[in-house]
Amino acid sequence: MKPKMQLGRLNHIGVATPSIADSIVFWRDVMGATKIHEPFDLPEQGVKVCFVDTPGADGALNGTQIELIEPLPGNAGIAAFLAKNPAGGQHHMCYEVPEIHAAKAAFEALGKRVLGEPRIGAHGTLIFFVHPKDMGGVLTEIMETPKAAH
Ligand code: CO
Repeated sequence: MKPKMQLGRLNHIGVATPSIADSIVFWRDVMGATKIHEPFDLPEQGVKVCFVDTPGADGALNGTQIELIEPLPGNAGIAAFLAKNPAGGQHHMCYEVPEIHAAKAAFEALGKRVLGEPRIGAHGTLIFFVHPKDMGGVLTEIMETPKAAH
């Protein structure tokens, strides 16, 4: 039997920015975000990230997040993206799955190019990316759903 992709919630939309500090001001003052997390470095990915919460259907701040991404020195990939998009721009979409290795097998069974082995992502669970050329032009991040911390 072929492994099956189990599509979970849209966890976050990755937005590259030349300055997380400037983007925080935008999300607070223009978009009215009320919950902006502390930025932190993710050296394994060569980025600094900052999550902005949006409300879910129940009005609580548990909806899809915006992941602001700023390259750390030496990150060629995001730097190249910003060279093409100097003001920043949408970089990737991230969907949750219940089991990361099953999802990877499902994509590979369909000939989709998984970029590297699953590794720890910004939410502390395993993630991988799938090549945008195999995904309708969208760089796609797949992350294992965090186990309920409560
Ligand atoms: Co992401």
